[in-house]
Amino acid sequence: MISFNVPPFVGNELQYIREAVNNKKICGDGPFTRKCNEWLQDRFGANRVMLTTSGSSALDMAALLCGIKPGDEVILPSYTFSSTANSFVLAGAKLVFVDIRPDTMNIDESKIEAAITDKTRVIVPVHYAGVACEMDTIMAIAKKHGLMVVEDAAQGVMSTYKGKALGTIGDFGCYSFHETKNYSMGEGGAILVNNLDYVEKAEILREKGTNRSKFFRGQVDKYTWVDFGDSYLPSDINAAYLWAQLEKADEINDNRLATWNKYNNCFRELANRKLIEQPTIPQECVHNAHMYYIKLKSLEERTSFIDFLRENGINAVFHYVPLHSAPAGRKFGRFSGEDIFTTSESERLVRLPLYYGISEEDVNKVVMKTTEFFAEQ
Ligand SMILES: Cc1ncc(COP(=O)(O)O)c(C=O)c1O
Repeated sequence: MISFNVPPFVGNELQYIREAVNNKKICGDGPFTRKCNEWLQDRFGANRVMLTTSGSSALDMAALLCGIKPGDEVILPSYTFSSTANSFVLAGAKLVFVDIRPDTMNIDESKIEAAITDKTRVIVPVHYAGVACEMDTIMAIAKKHGLMVVEDAAQGVMSTYKGKALGTIGDFGCYSFHETKNYSMGEGGAILVNNLDYVEKAEILREKGTNRSKFFRGQVDKYTWVDFGDSYLPSDINAAYLWAQLEKADEINDNRLATWNKYNNCFRELANRKLIEQPTIPQECVHNAHMYYIKLKSLEERTSFIDFLRENGINAVFHYVPLHSAPAGRKFGRFSGEDIFTTSESERLVRLPLYYGISEEDVNKVVMKTTEFFAEQ
């Protein structure tokens, strides 16, 4: 069976994990965590990056740092992973879902203003498939209405919008290093604190409400409990695994892009014949080949396509069931305006196998079987 995903492994992971163990520093914020934080800061020009235990916990931190009060509203797309929504539910917010654009599957920036009320506090653009949302427009709306912006860049590590790294544009950015992501530490993530007013608060929140970070920098002579906090530090063992991947970030990116481009070139003819739709990458965006998807004509056709691939030893998957139609989505939120694209587009989308190191032979087989499926149509 050709797997849909295989977690990235570049070669030095076990050596670095052994080093972390030998360092006798396997808790959070050890040498590997520091290296990862600094690499992410330098590479992406971010003010402050801190590894977290997951992309979800980076979002939790961001939602709590936004200072949401019960009853406040947060604007987000319904076509996203549950974590984007959970974090703001945790902070006490009411969710307001906005329709997506059919070309990128990202929040439709032209429909955000209509969703703003006097309770709105935050806009959460989700950079689906590592392709940026229309950030200039979103940032301008946020500025005009005095709102904060949390970028869910879980899938967007190494992608840019107008040359700026995703995750560095809003007040906060959140990355995921889950095993399904381009760079991994098993479970893990990072928060990018772009708004400098929040750096100290973020350190305290991440360190169980203490000012331990200040203490380690020698800025206070003892550390104490100063505010509400939680534990969002990953073990240095996990950071060691990630460090091996960051050292090879360009190699991983190039490898994924080569597979993405191959799929895209091979499927152009099917798209020209209007049998499928291919992803759109807006001119301002450089993407990271996080996923390759195609859109079919209908839910029924997608189901038979996925079944056909499975019968031929290929695992292809779909996601997401729109949050506003899920039980928790109905409980915690409402859809603003009309759902024109969220449900209909999500039902047609299918993701093909794409991971670092997928063999040419496997990619050829996916292309061949996909072409065969449509030849029979
Ligand atoms: C858009 C989006 N947001 C949030 C997350 C949560 O990240 P994690 O699995 O690291 O908690 C994911 C990935 O799983 C995601 O794809």
